[in-house]
This record gives sequence, C-alpha cells and structure tokens, in this order.
Amino acid sequence: MIEAAKGTRDILPGEVARWQLVEQQARDIFTLFGFREIRTPIFESTELFTRGVGEATDIVAKEMYTFLDRKGRSLTLRPENTAPVARALIEHGLLRGAEMHRLYYIGPMFRYERPQKGRMRQFAQIGVEVVGSDHPAVDAETLQMLMLFLGRLRLGALELQVNSVGCSVCRPVYRDILVAALRPHRDALCTDCRRRLETNPLRCLDCKVPADRAIVDGAPPILEHLCADCAAHFARVRGHLDGLGVAHTVAPRLVRGLDYYRRTTFEVVSTSLGAQSALLGGGRYDGLIEELGGPPAPGFGFAMGEDRLVMSLPGDLPGLEQASGVFIVVLGDEAVAAGLLAAARLREAGRAAVVEPAPQKSLKAQMRRANDLKARFVLILGADEIARGTLTVKRMADGAQQEVAAASLVQALTELDHG
Ligand code: HAM
Repeated sequence: MIEAAKGTRDILPGEVARWQLVEQQARDIFTLFGFREIRTPIFESTELFTRGVGEATDIVAKEMYTFLDRKGRSLTLRPENTAPVARALIEHGLLRGAEMHRLYYIGPMFRYERPQKGRMRQFAQIGVEVVGSDHPAVDAETLQMLMLFLGRLRLGALELQVNSVGCSVCRPVYRDILVAALRPHRDALCTDCRRRLETNPLRCLDCKVPADRAIVDGAPPILEHLCADCAAHFARVRGHLDGLGVAHTVAPRLVRGLDYYRRTTFEVVSTSLGAQSALLGGGRYDGLIEELGGPPAPGFGFAMGEDRLVMSLPGDLPGLEQASGVFIVVLGDEAVAAGLLAAARLREAGRAAVVEPAPQKSLKAQMRRANDLKARFVLILGADEIARGTLTVKRMADGAQQEVAAASLVQALTELDHG
C-alpha cells in the first residue's frame, strides 16, 4: 500500500468542516480590519529564503525542501510566507507609493522537521503581513485583530507574550554582551547552543533544554539593552495594547527563529497544547524588504499553524455541526427517478440534496446513512408514495414526520424549517 509521505496527512471530509470554519472566521475578521488576500506560489527561488529568512536559521540550515528543476535552477518549497509576500510587493512595484498594505494568506508551507503532534512537514499557515508603516499602533492593532480571531474560536486559556529584539543599532551591542555572558559556560551548553553561540547567539535565549535554561536565565535580558528608539517603540506598542484592552505579558527571552525580526516579537501560547505550546508567532521585520532589494518599507505580521488551531478548537463550537441538507431515501428501483426529480427541485430552491441510488438497501440502512451525513431532513420515497404522488418528510432533529404532495415539497420544508 502506498501511504501519505511522512509528515503529511489527509484532511478527510469528516474533519474538514473544522478547517473551513477556522478559515472563514479568519477571512471575516481580517476583512473587518481592511486586510486583503494575497496568493503567492508554493515554490520560490531558494535564494529568497537564504537571504530573507537567514542562512544561520534552523529553517534554512536544515529544514528546507530544496531541489533543482530540469534546467538546474535551485527552487525551494516555501517554508514560510513572509519573504514571498515581500518579494511579490517588490516585484509588482507596489511599494513605490507611501501606502500601507494589509495582506493575509492561507496555504501550505513545508519544513523538513521531525513530525509530532501539531508539527508536520506539510502544514497550513494562516498569516497576515502589514507593510508600509513602523508605527507602534500597527503592531497593537494587528495583535488586537489576532486576539479577536482567537477569541471567536474559543480556544481556551491563551497568553499573548511580547518582547522586543532591538534593531541594527542595539542588537549587535547586545549580541556581544550576551556572548560574553554565555561564553564562560560554553562547555555546559547543549551542542545546538554551542553552535548558536558562534552563528546566532540570540537563539540560545529560547533554548528549551533545562540545563541551558538555567544558564541563559542568568544572562542579561535584551530589554535592558535596547537603544532609546527601540525602548520607546516597545513602550508605545504596549501603551496601544493597553488602550485597546489587549491583555499581554512581557517575555524577555522571546526571540524567534527567523533572522528578519526587528523590535516587536510575540507568540501566543496555549496552556492546552503541551509541548507544542506556541500556537503562533510573529513580529516586526523592518529591514527585510531592503535586504531583498526593495525600497525601505517596514513590516509587521504573524502566522499560525492551522493544524494547531484546529486541534485546539472546542468540540461544541457553534456553526460546526449544523445539519443542513436533505437525504432522499429511495425504496425500489421505480423510486429512483422520482428521487432525482425531488432532488433537482430542492437544489433549484437552494437546498442541498443527496439521493444515493441504492434502492435495494433497506430503509434502516438508508436512514443510518442520512444520520452519518447529518441530514436535516429525510425524504422517503416508496411504492405507496409514488402511487400517490407524495413524499414522506422526516425532520431529523425531532422525528416529526408528514406526507406532502411532491409539487409542494419546497414549501413544506420551508414551513418545517420554522415549525
Ligand atoms: P514561524 O514561527 O516559523 O513564523 O511559524 C509560525 C507558526 O507556524 C508557528 O507558530 C506554528 O504555529 C506554525 N508552524 C511552524 N512550523 C510548523 C510545522 N512544522 N507544523 C505545523 N505548524 C508549524 C513564520 O513562519 C513567520 N513567517 C511568521 C511571521 C509572519 N512573522 C511576520 N510575519
């Protein structure tokens, strides 16, 4: 048997309603805030990610699906979508004016990671990018939108954690301070952190190895070493968050795994997710677009793994299990044609209808099928009904049943909807 490749999975019809609900909620709320959708290709030139995300990051160093095409060009399945969105804005000349761009995307990303609960090699992200303003109100309002979205999904206890990782002025200074603080403990650090100490020392700050945590907790926090501009920016982001009533905590060791972040970084942590507790993350990336050859254009955004959102949804979320369609039970071959006609009439009136031409199946078996499909109404067509030109209508919610003339079927269902 050929199985789905490791780290990928099928989303079967039984679970897809949860995905659609999350996506619809995202579209609705993002639209309320003036965001518009952007769709970029699934693969890009490898260089976009090596330059955009950074050579020293885990993503670029060990997680990319990179291949040569038939002409020898190096291409990569996108591991994230901030760099592709930046590329698209530059390529289409959309950054020449001073206007802001508020964009969102929903789609698959690819990372060669060790699969576990909530971590896949192909996973869907829902993300947003705001490009064209470095005003702290942009950070705060985007986070307000995010928390509104998560609140609608009733995901339980969530914590918004914010930090600032400084800019090209203060970060190098802090980097030296951090390296000086950690170097004496080098031999006690994990292998990853020993490597990071040389290549990307800030990443030591969010190492999850307990022994490393103890060492790193003793190092000076970045918030004490921000330059005046970055400190003021962070204070104003927090001020706007407070003004909008968005609860948050400061997480001084929150640095993220991508090189492009400047100033604000954040994560939303769920207490119900266990090891994969970060539901999503994001931050400000004011240098990225210039790094990719565009004009100076600051940006802020986030992305969330859709698997993790769907996993955390409560089972009884309103809108999830709404029975809507009509299932038509046909008993005997002569009922099939009448069933098809009834289905056609219902669909014309905008109602979903299904007839499964299996007339040899018993009433009981067909009723079971209607239940599985979560039909709101079942129509029964047997020899008696055909002879009388009627159908038996059953409302599944309460079992109410009546016989109606085939010609007045649509009207009868409308009455039963409200009855
Ligand atoms: P990221 O932290 O690499 O950031 O990924 C964002 C989110 O994607 C994670 O918090 C997680 O929910 C989900 N995710 C990442 N890897 C996996 C995986 N292997 N399986 C399932 N879910 C995963 C970014 O991607 C940035 N582009 C976010 C951003 C947008 N920053 C600014 N704008």
